[in-house]
Amino acid sequence: MKVRDSVVLVTGANRGLGRAWARLLLEAGARKVYAGARDPRSIDLPDVIPLELDITRPEQVRRVAAECGDLTLLVNNAGIVRGGHLFDDEAFERARQELDTNLFGTLAMCRAFAPILGANGGGAIVNVLSVLSWISIPGGATYSISKAATWSMTNGVRIALKPQGTQVVGVHVAFMDTDMTAGVDAPKASTLDVVIQTVAALEAGQEEVLADGLTREVKRGLSLERGVYLDAAG
Ligand SMILES: NC(=O)c1ccc[n+]([C@@H]2O[C@H](COP(=O)([O-])OP(=O)(O)OC[C@H]3O[C@@H](n4cnc5c(N)ncnc54)[C@H](OP(=O)(O)O)[C@@H]3O)[C@@H](O)[C@H]2O)c1
Repeated sequence: MKVRDSVVLVTGANRGLGRAWARLLLEAGARKVYAGARDPRSIDLPDVIPLELDITRPEQVRRVAAECGDLTLLVNNAGIVRGGHLFDDEAFERARQELDTNLFGTLAMCRAFAPILGANGGGAIVNVLSVLSWISIPGGATYSISKAATWSMTNGVRIALKPQGTQVVGVHVAFMDTDMTAGVDAPKASTLDVVIQTVAALEAGQEEVLADGLTREVKRGLSLERGVYLDAAG
């Protein structure tokens, strides 16, 4: 996958990591950047093509796929965190919302664009995951459920689309400096750094990005005799 001359769609491109993606892809020579946002008026980057896109709304996903028949790179960035504990009264509702967006919304985008990417030579999909795909923290346990499911979905999509030559990259990261972690006091990766690492992985033909030290440590810890996921983290 070469970013230069690619045609890209970034979901949730109005702020945070998605905005960094859209800006950097333009700078890296993408031919066209479609910037998806629930409210397209919130897109403030010049030179992108704003599109109304709520990934949980099937009619919008269908319409955007019909408008972006030239796509070669899909960046599934949009995501939500509701926070809270598994035994709170609202846990089911929060888990449903997080699964709707993070898992089913992202899967809907993969399904809508797989034939388009295939027709355009294979292309690539980037799914933004988390270190919380692998471990659970008490205040974010429903989010962890959604990111674990999205990791598994990403692995399934990768295998399913291999025959058509679509590269599928999962990006795992701990804390990033965005609105999502505004209340968190911990070391945070910069969005720019995460995008730069992912572009390098795309161009090197890799399938996974472990974007920071904590994420790399947790990944190594999965195979310890006492796996890291068995104990409380954070
Ligand atoms: N920040 C972190 O520490 C961190 C760590 C690991 C992984 N991540 C993941 O990184 C990705 C980007 O997060 P961020 O940190 O940039 O968060 P953010 O600042 O909260 O931005 C989230 C973006 O997703 C969009 N979005 C939410 N639901 C959507 C939907 N149904 N359809 C379309 N767009 C939707 C938001 O749009 P609105 O403006 O309309 O709300 C916003 O543009 C997410 O997948 C997140 O889970 C973040």
